[in-house]
Amino acid sequence: MHREIAKGVYYVGVDDHHTKLFENLWEIPLGVSYNSYLIVDDKIALIETVKEPWTEEWLDNISEIIDPAEIDYLILNHMEPDHTGALPHIAKIAKNATMVYSPKASPMQKSFYDVGLEEKTVEDLEEISLGSKTLKFVHAMFLHWPETMMTYLVEDKILFPCDAFGTYGALNGKIFDDEIDLRMVEQESRRYLSTIITSYLKFVQRGIEKVKELGIEIDVIAPSHGPIYREDPMWIVNKYAEWSSPELEKTCCIVYGSMYGYTHRLAIKLKEELLSLGVNVKAHNVSYARTGDVLVDSMRAGVIVLGGPTYDAFPFPKLWTFMNEMEGKRFAQRPIGLFGTFGWGGGGVRKMKKWLEDQKFEILEPVIRVKARPTDEEEAELKKLAKTIAQKLR
Ligand SMILES: Cc1cc2nc3c(=O)[nH]c(=O)nc-3n(C[C@H](O)[C@H](O)[C@H](O)COP(=O)(O)O)c2cc1C
Ligand SMILES: [Fe+2]
Ligand SMILES: [Fe+2]
Repeated sequence: MHREIAKGVYYVGVDDHHTKLFENLWEIPLGVSYNSYLIVDDKIALIETVKEPWTEEWLDNISEIIDPAEIDYLILNHMEPDHTGALPHIAKIAKNATMVYSPKASPMQKSFYDVGLEEKTVEDLEEISLGSKTLKFVHAMFLHWPETMMTYLVEDKILFPCDAFGTYGALNGKIFDDEIDLRMVEQESRRYLSTIITSYLKFVQRGIEKVKELGIEIDVIAPSHGPIYREDPMWIVNKYAEWSSPELEKTCCIVYGSMYGYTHRLAIKLKEELLSLGVNVKAHNVSYARTGDVLVDSMRAGVIVLGGPTYDAFPFPKLWTFMNEMEGKRFAQRPIGLFGTFGWGGGGVRKMKKWLEDQKFEILEPVIRVKARPTDEEEAELKKLAKTIAQKLR
């Protein structure tokens, strides 16, 4: 399948309905697309490849338009294998093609693939003429890897921003924003941003600034995952700007684990208290929730509350994993609430508190530790914690 985006510009990407976990970490119930674009002018340029197992379908898409052996330029915006997995295969077919990428991508290409094609490294804002069309390259370091760049098709005003403005969810033939339910796109793009781009939010902000400063007109945004925006390209830019802004939302997210239900009951009580105080609150049981959903709701929450039982003298393992993710994803500073349960010596809450202190998070009072089932005093403490949270979010 291929579709024309502008005269001589084609979508030749593929849908992945097989992978359950993107990066073997993040749930993608609606699949994902690996977008690739073909530009046919005096010279033929191909922007990005696809993940390796989809090579054949992708080559079929290209072959519907031209003979892949005729490709002159392989534009590689990003070296991650979901963008470059098919490179060794296309390199054997398009033997005269030149790979075009940023200087930082050159050693990466050699360490990942080392295909025997010519290469051309392009500086920031450098251009290549294809005949009647011009490609301009915009370096976008750490969006998502250090070598990442965007490509701009000058005459057609199409920006190919790579992983920026991407979305989970396969396209199923409907590749444009005006063909898809934007509520679904909003949910899937926020999940995408929260799971894979969160660590690089300041680079998202920088990338958006840079494109604005360049003063280039953008009629179409064609990312590497998810829909192409032709009706309203600023819609996704504004969403990304909102989700990457340093200002957090006035919401609370309770992330908890529980084996036999004691911690669960505390979490639900706290949630009820918060709701009665008018706080916008979500609660996730880490054992059952999709990690992506937990990240979506916690990443921008003004207050996070962590709750879990002691497990072999340590915090509940899945909660501990989530806390590590908070560090890896560079969660912004914010107040954190803390509660937990134990049966004898405890240790879970103590270790979580130490970790939060080391991370310089403000810990909300009171911290609640419950031995088995809660006493009336401990339930009263829970109400106090709810009040503190409500005040913080006011
Ligand atoms: C496998 C397992 C390991 C536990 N390890 C500890 C421990 O090392 N120290 C402790 O004080 N309590 C320990 N406990 C007791 C629990 O923390 C306690 O029963 C708590 O109420 C469980 O809360 P939950 O029902 O929310 O899972 C352990 C319980 C289980 C089931
Ligand atoms: Fe990437
Ligand atoms: Fe990607």
